[in-house]
Amino acid sequence: MRELLKELRERSLSAIAGAESAEALDALRVQYLGKKGELTAVLKQMGKLSAEERPAMGQLANELRAAVEQRLEEQKKRIGEKALELKLSAETLDVTIPGAEAKLGVRHPMYQVLDRMKEIFIGMGFEVVEDREVELAEYNFDKLNESPNHPAREWTDTFYFTEDSSVLLRTQTSPMQIHVMERQQPPIRMVAPGRVYRKDEIDATHSPMFHQVEGMAIDKGITMADLKGTLSEVARQLYGGETVTRFRPHHFPFTEPSCEMDIQCYRCRGRGCPTCKGEGWIELLGAGMVHPKVLSGCGIDPEVYSGWAFGFGLERLALAYYKISDLRLIFENDVRFLEQF
Ligand code: DAH
Repeated sequence: MRELLKELRERSLSAIAGAESAEALDALRVQYLGKKGELTAVLKQMGKLSAEERPAMGQLANELRAAVEQRLEEQKKRIGEKALELKLSAETLDVTIPGAEAKLGVRHPMYQVLDRMKEIFIGMGFEVVEDREVELAEYNFDKLNESPNHPAREWTDTFYFTEDSSVLLRTQTSPMQIHVMERQQPPIRMVAPGRVYRKDEIDATHSPMFHQVEGMAIDKGITMADLKGTLSEVARQLYGGETVTRFRPHHFPFTEPSCEMDIQCYRCRGRGCPTCKGEGWIELLGAGMVHPKVLSGCGIDPEVYSGWAFGFGLERLALAYYKISDLRLIFENDVRFLEQF
């Protein structure tokens, strides 16, 4: 029996050491230690031994069992490590392989101009506010001192939601002046960019949806000189330090006096060309001193405070900025056009 155990020990331990998978190990465990296993079979023969021989053989058999179990454990661990190593080497990352290129677009050219505008105004202490596009006629017209029979209120010009013409898509960003003044006492310095809507057919200079930027400064002692100085400085920062501005009298119901600001044509430098239609100047925005009625309607005392406001079309400004001639390019989102900015 001693020989039997010795032979079994050598064979089993070397078989286990040669196993290369968890499945092979399991099979060997069954083969040697299982109910019908070889070691079990040897133990069953213990009964045939003499009483003197039995304890020594029993001890040998137990040692063998322990040795087999230990070798099984060791081999299991080794197989696990080998598998991990294999997996890791299969998964190595080659950082020199060119990556999959993520196609990042560019910010829309018009919003690039808007971002630049915002930066300029923020640099001058203005706050950027954004708000609703669905507006009450009261805010879009009445509180801006636009009379009940103002032509802009026509159903042919404005998108209304209600039969009584009380709710509409705002036709201008000017109602933002009212919202800000109603919730905040001066000093106020704000710009309010956003979409506006008018019933216009699409052509090279019109669209039923476009963007405006409104601006306003209210404080004690603010004059028309502040308006001219600020807006001229914005134009210079946007279009270059040599940009010349000019202010012409105009009329808006919510400002008194009112004006329009032009910049000297960037293409011909004022000599007259097709871009400026021979004028030498390009109209940029409407502005003026906020009407006392508008101030007092918002609970701001016009005897104490004064201020100026302006509004301009962002598309038109972006066209001028990039020297583009057709408004439709701004909306068509043709990648060949957008990629150029
Ligand atoms: N809301 C005017 C428009 O749509 C533009 C405008 C003119 C805004 C004068 C103003 C302003 O704030 O003072 O034509």
